[in-house]
Amino acid sequence: TIVILDFGSQYTQLIARRIREFNVFSVVLPCTTSLEKVRELKPKGVILSGGPCSVYDADAPAADPAVLAMGVPVLGICYGLQFIVHHLGGKVQAASAREYGHAEVTLVAETPLFRGLPQALDVWMSHGDEALELPQGFALTAKTANAVAGIADEARRIWAVQFHPEVAHTRQGMELLKNFCLDICGAKQDWTPEHFIQATVARVKAQVGDGHAICGLSGGVDSSVAAVLVAKAIGDRLTCIFVNNGVLRKDEFPKVQKTMREQLGLNVVAVDAGERFLAKLAGVTDPEKKRKVIGNEFIAVFDDEAKKIFEAEKHVGEEVAWLVQGTLYPDVIESSSVHGPSHTIKSHHNVGGLPADMKLKLIEPLRDLFKDEVRRIGRDLGMPEEILERQPFPGPGLAVRILGEVTADRVALLQEADEIVVAEIKAAGLYRKVWQSFAVLLPVKSVGVMGDQRTYAYTCAVRAVESEDGMTADWAPLPYEVLRTISSRIVSEVRGINRVVYDITSKPPGTIEWE
Ligand code: XMP
Repeated sequence: TIVILDFGSQYTQLIARRIREFNVFSVVLPCTTSLEKVRELKPKGVILSGGPCSVYDADAPAADPAVLAMGVPVLGICYGLQFIVHHLGGKVQAASAREYGHAEVTLVAETPLFRGLPQALDVWMSHGDEALELPQGFALTAKTANAVAGIADEARRIWAVQFHPEVAHTRQGMELLKNFCLDICGAKQDWTPEHFIQATVARVKAQVGDGHAICGLSGGVDSSVAAVLVAKAIGDRLTCIFVNNGVLRKDEFPKVQKTMREQLGLNVVAVDAGERFLAKLAGVTDPEKKRKVIGNEFIAVFDDEAKKIFEAEKHVGEEVAWLVQGTLYPDVIESSSVHGPSHTIKSHHNVGGLPADMKLKLIEPLRDLFKDEVRRIGRDLGMPEEILERQPFPGPGLAVRILGEVTADRVALLQEADEIVVAEIKAAGLYRKVWQSFAVLLPVKSVGVMGDQRTYAYTCAVRAVESEDGMTADWAPLPYEVLRTISSRIVSEVRGINRVVYDITSKPPGTIEWE
């Protein structure tokens, strides 16, 4: 294991993902994690991440400086370098020339960290502070025209770089991380899909014993992979619940059921509660209220079904009822971060959770995985690409893509438009290149002319974005031809929409969904 102590950089998770790409297991912990906790993990090495603060600020995030003397190799990145310099007696101060973006670094010393790298490196920098004086025992290993870019104290086995090796713009970043993890730390490359699947199936078997588990399916990657893994462990004692909340995409309710049963062999209970949800949504226009209504209703429906299942299994009241959730590692990191979960901009609802009196115990088979790793596992489990490559779809579904009130008619309109957008994006071979692509129904009517008739109908916005993780996104520069086909098909095939616009807002400042 490589332990990454997080000082709050937006790139911290990326460090873990890069390291896992070469099959070394790595975990992200808040920088304030106690030394004992870090020791318990028996790390082969420790990485100190970047961070947005200045080490000399009074409230600067700090790790226990004793990690620097734990006896395992340490790599400091950006703020991590400054932390090392500051705590070992050197000097850090605001830089005369801040460095953001591309930079040229010259390697000035031989060190195992730079083995095999060219002397001039193209790197990504993002810092306003610089190391001015190095602590005793440290040597300069790399520099830019303006500042210190790398230092090392090989006797103490501490290395640090000012630039970000985890960012793709740093061309030799992966080699540098490999040099650290494999050569310097001697970490094992045993974090493979087969290993993960075996270990998880064995763990779930042991946990659940002869109990019974339920799982809410959304049709998306995470819940499906979680269900398949658990089913591999306990077979038919896993029941999957798939709810039609009335705001799914066109034909999704029957299609997902079919795939889950026939292709994945899952034991699925399908609940058609569309009308129940739409009745509750009547008159609701506030986005957060829509999410709450759908979240609460989902819990109510799920709860009813769960009770029926457990009663049939005669497991009620015994401590043998389990709930499978597709929680991913970024959520785990986020909720344990020192900075707390990042500011809630929208409340995200997947499976909400069941009432406390049900005493379901949680199985979270994916809680150590990043999204790309979930796909790798799914592929190893032989799951169809159609599920693994599915774009994310929000829990509250089309409800947050229908601005204003959600009605059955509007859902039907948007389903038609959405189907056209997705079909054309797929036909153009772009479905996997864009993060999400969909239609949004605006409660705005405008005048048009069709044939010789005047029309007065709704506007539909098309949204397609490129993104790595949904946290930031840019609008996708779709070819005009694709936009043209989407627009003319929607206007001619969807009665009730006579105007199509393309959303060219990035995130930030926009969000991906319109609500
Ligand atoms: P935003 O709109 O916040 O979306 O830029 C970021 C990602 O989250 C998805 N999203 C949701 N997912 N429940 C979900 O399960 C929600 O309420 C929700 N709102 C947004 C969105 O589709 C995008 O992938």
